[in-house]
Parts: sequence; C-alpha cells; structure tokens
Amino acid sequence: VLPEKVKIVEVGPRDGLQNEKTIVPTETKIHLIDLLSESGLPVIEATSFVSPKWVPQMADQVEVMKGIVRKPGVSYPVLTPNLKGFHAAVKAGAAEVAIFGAASELFSKKNINCTVEESLQRFDEVMKAAKEAGVPVRGYVSCVLGCPYEGKVAPEKVAHVAKRLYAMGCYEISLGDTIGVGTPGSMTQMLTAVTKEVPVSALAVHCHDTYGQALANILVALQMGISVVDSSVAGLGGCPYAQGASGNVATEDVVYMLHGLGIQTGVDLSKVISAGAFICRSLNRKTSSKVAQATCKL
Ligand code: HMG
Ligand code: MG
Repeated sequence: VLPEKVKIVEVGPRDGLQNEKTIVPTETKIHLIDLLSESGLPVIEATSFVSPKWVPQMADQVEVMKGIVRKPGVSYPVLTPNLKGFHAAVKAGAAEVAIFGAASELFSKKNINCTVEESLQRFDEVMKAAKEAGVPVRGYVSCVLGCPYEGKVAPEKVAHVAKRLYAMGCYEISLGDTIGVGTPGSMTQMLTAVTKEVPVSALAVHCHDTYGQALANILVALQMGISVVDSSVAGLGGCPYAQGASGNVATEDVVYMLHGLGIQTGVDLSKVISAGAFICRSLNRKTSSKVAQATCKL
C-alpha cells in the first residue's frame, strides 16, 4: 500500500547549489527559494552553516537567511555540522536545522573531518542546544547504499547510525544515497534493516540519480511505507566530497510520479517547473528533470 500523502523536502538551494563550481549570486539563491516557496512545497532546505573554506558556495548563508521571504507554513531548515554552525544558524533566524552523519567512516572523514563516532558526539551537543532553544533537528545518514571511498556499506551500519540519530532526538532521519548507486534491490535490503530500528514514519529517502535509479528506489521506499522524499528542483546537485555524485532526483519528476500514483503532495508542478527554468537560466544549464524537458516541448 502506498501512502496517501507525501511530504517533499526540497533540497535544491542547498544540495543543488553547494556543488556549483562558480559562486552563484546571493540574489539568485534568494529568488530561487522565493519561487519555490510559492509552489506549495512544505520544506525548503535553504543553505548550510558549514565552513566557507570547505564549501565556499554556502559562504553567504546569513544573507540568504535574511533575504528570503518566509512563507507561513513552510520550513526552511539549514545544515549545521557542529555547535558553531548551530549558533550561527539560530542567530541568522533559522527555526530548524539538520545534522549530517554517514554510514561510512571514510566518507565521514572526507565530508566533516571526523569519525562517525566523533560526529555523533558533536551532533549530541547540537541536539542539546537545539532542545534548549526549541529548534527541531533533522538527521541525515549519507552513503546508505554505497560509499565513494569504501564501496559497499552494510545495511546494519546504516541502521546503527540512523538509530543513534533517532535516539538523540532527531524527528526525522533522511537516508541518503549520496552517489546514487542503489537499486530497488539494495534499497529494500537497507530499509528492511533500518525499519527494525527506527519507525518508518520518521524516515525519509534522499536519492541522487547518478545511475538513473532514483525514481525506482523512491517507489520501493513508498511501498515500504516511507512518506517523506527529498528532491532537488531541476535535478541540481551533488556532494563536493563525493566525486561523480550527480544531481538529486528532480523535484518535478518526483511530483509527476506521485501525482500519477494518486498521492497528494500539495505541490503545484507548473510552479516548480518555472522555478527550475529560472535556476537553469541563471546557471546557463539544461535541466536534469525529464518532466521539465518534456513540458518545454509542448
Ligand atoms: P574542521 O576543519 O575539522 O573544523 O572542519 P574545525 O573545528 O577544526 O575548524 C576549522 C575552521 O573552520 C575554523 O576556522 C573554524 O572556526 C571553522 P579558522 O580558525 O581556520 O579560521 N568552522 C566553521 N566555520 C563556519 N561554520 C561552521 C564551522 N565549524 C568550524 N559550522 C567542518 C569541520 C564540519 C566545519 C567541515 O568539515 C565542514 O564544514 N564540512 C562541511 C561539508 C559539507 O557541507 N558537505 C556537504 C553537505 S553533506 C551532503 O551533501 C550529503 C547530504 O546531501 C545527504 C546525502 O546526499 O547523502 C546531506
Ligand atoms: Mg545529498
């Protein structure tokens, strides 16, 4: 049985843009978020409070947070890897944050410069501060279906990290196929392990489309009871610490599939397509969304 409603978490302004080599003007980022806000998306990940030396594209995080028009009912979470990022995020007006760990040791080192265990300790500090401030925290687990440095990742390792983040107090755990290597087969195995440790209602899937498997993997996740899906407008994205990681699954394509399945999203597809057209024009790039490409030809 499929869920009746799915919550789409738009990660384009963060996951999509963080991988762009050329610095995108702050105004462009703000306009993109404002366009997405008008499309009915309930969650728009706006930026990251990470080190500008690590991810220069996100160095304007404070200006972005101050510049966007916050639509009532929409949340605008930001990534915070540590307490420093958390405090800066709250100061800039963030009302929700996300911590991001990994199921693979080498990826954790390359991405946030610490072991998985060390990262969980840092996240615990962020969680304590967030609880005090009344700020909800989402948790990510990267490399759930494979790692660019370690290859195969055991479903039990994913389940372990997901369980820790959930026990810490994350209200939702997003399972990231960072390099898009998963298939419906490995997705099923991984989710079978994770749902033993974390309630399915608290899980989300975050699929990159590197191998063209994202929609199939999402469908399998929906069939297993997951009702939160991360996606990126125009299929922008990738992770700077996962070479070869292409974009996230396109929001347009996810919305099209969900509506085709009779699942409600509250999202106006044509408005997401317009937001995608805007960012693709700004970046001088062709959209990665099949649905947007098809609509352009009508
Ligand atoms: P580090 O070098 O180990 O940190 O980096 P440190 O604590 O030793 O500090 C070094 C310098 O960074 C210091 O500055 C700190 O002040 C500064 P300096 O004294 O050299 O001038 N610093 C910060 N500055 C701003 N904001 C902060 C912050 N923290 C320290 N929060 C750190 C550790 C975590 C900071 C670094 O590794 C980092 O920023 N990593 C972020 C990497 C990243 O953003 N990756 C992409 C997001 S994850 C992703 O895309 C996957 C996901 O989409 C899911 C999926 O697809 O799987 C979520
Ligand atoms: Mg990602």
